Amino acid sequence: MADILVQDLHLSYGPVDVLKGVSLAVEPGQILALLGASGSGKTTLLRSVAGLETPRAGRIVQGSNTLYDADRRIDLAPEARGLGFVFQSYALWPHRTVNDNVAYPLRLRKLGRAEVEEKVKRALGSIGLAHLGDRFPHQLSGGQQQRVALARALVYEPKVILLDEPLSNLDAKLREEARIWLRRLITNLGLSALCVTHDQVEAMAMADRILLLDQGRIAQNGTPREVYERPTSLYVAEFMGAHNRFEGTVTALDGDRVTLDVGGRTLRGRARGPLEVGGRAVAIIRLERVSARRDPGPDRVAMTLGESLFLGDRWELVFDWEVASGGETRQLVRAFALDGLDDGVWQVELPEQDLMVFPVG
Ligand SMILES: Nc1ncnc2c1ncn2[C@@H]1O[C@H](COP(=O)(O)OP(=O)(O)OP(=O)(O)O)[C@@H](O)[C@H]1O
Ligand SMILES: [Mg+2]
Repeated sequence: MADILVQDLHLSYGPVDVLKGVSLAVEPGQILALLGASGSGKTTLLRSVAGLETPRAGRIVQGSNTLYDADRRIDLAPEARGLGFVFQSYALWPHRTVNDNVAYPLRLRKLGRAEVEEKVKRALGSIGLAHLGDRFPHQLSGGQQQRVALARALVYEPKVILLDEPLSNLDAKLREEARIWLRRLITNLGLSALCVTHDQVEAMAMADRILLLDQGRIAQNGTPREVYERPTSLYVAEFMGAHNRFEGTVTALDGDRVTLDVGGRTLRGRARGPLEVGGRAVAIIRLERVSARRDPGPDRVAMTLGESLFLGDRWELVFDWEVASGGETRQLVRAFALDGLDDGVWQVELPEQDLMVFPVG
């Protein structure tokens, strides 16, 4: 039985459809990341599961407990849903101490004083902040405030936790550490989590499954590797990872092998959708799949190195590829490499199996 099951959820704000039939399942112990562009409906979906927004159609079930069912007119109040929630920009009460912030959900549920104290202590202890209970939020660092928000969500021991951009207020370095810490915490507590982020690397690092939302619809639902390596649409392919993009015309098809004319030059790739000879197509290849060689060979194209950018852990190479398409005669082709290269002409390899070709228009 899924810890959270969402079926065909629709939600509108006035005339604007925001969720257009979203379905998902969070299995026990799983972390599911909700990924998507700004405005795609991530927060709205999470708030609907929490009971803070009312959809107009669909169903939300937790275990054997129906939280929302449009047809049966069931709509449980947020505090009756037993879910932990960490808001985008964590919303601690500034004039309440850490202890009082964390105690709030328990007082809302009318627990006795001794029990509240005991549970608050345990929740703060589990995130390493037991010694900071008497401070006010402004006396804490961003990372500590983040943890307090988490403690507040964990304090009444929910089975499922909903997290909206839980790491967004941390700087890049803290964020990388926090995502490991957060994943461990969720796993060790035996929770399931639905976690919104718009950082795809964070989503891949933290989650067992990724659900990519595109304007209120699910574009793809899969493991991080599936979504990254086998995107089912051009939208998903372009959303995930750093990539090169080539537009061209299909000149030959052989099973899933595609030959593409890009401004008079030829590229070979693999079809990722229904293509036809003569049709327009877009080819996508990730930067880490592109490499520069000395000698000509299959899938290699001569290009001039324009720039080598030092990124610390690797280099980004930028090549100029001379194609003659409608006045545009040059296309930039980027690659990641462990070392910088000498200026000059290189044989740039775009492996056929890594060039994903999608139909357009
Ligand atoms: N209370 C509201 N009334 C009307 N429209 C709203 C309301 N809340 C959100 N929207 C609209 O619904 C859409 C989805 O918003 P939502 O907050 O779910 O996006 P999001 O994916 O969380 O984006 P972000 O990454 O920026 O947080 C947006 O177009 C937004 O403007
Ligand atoms: Mg949001």
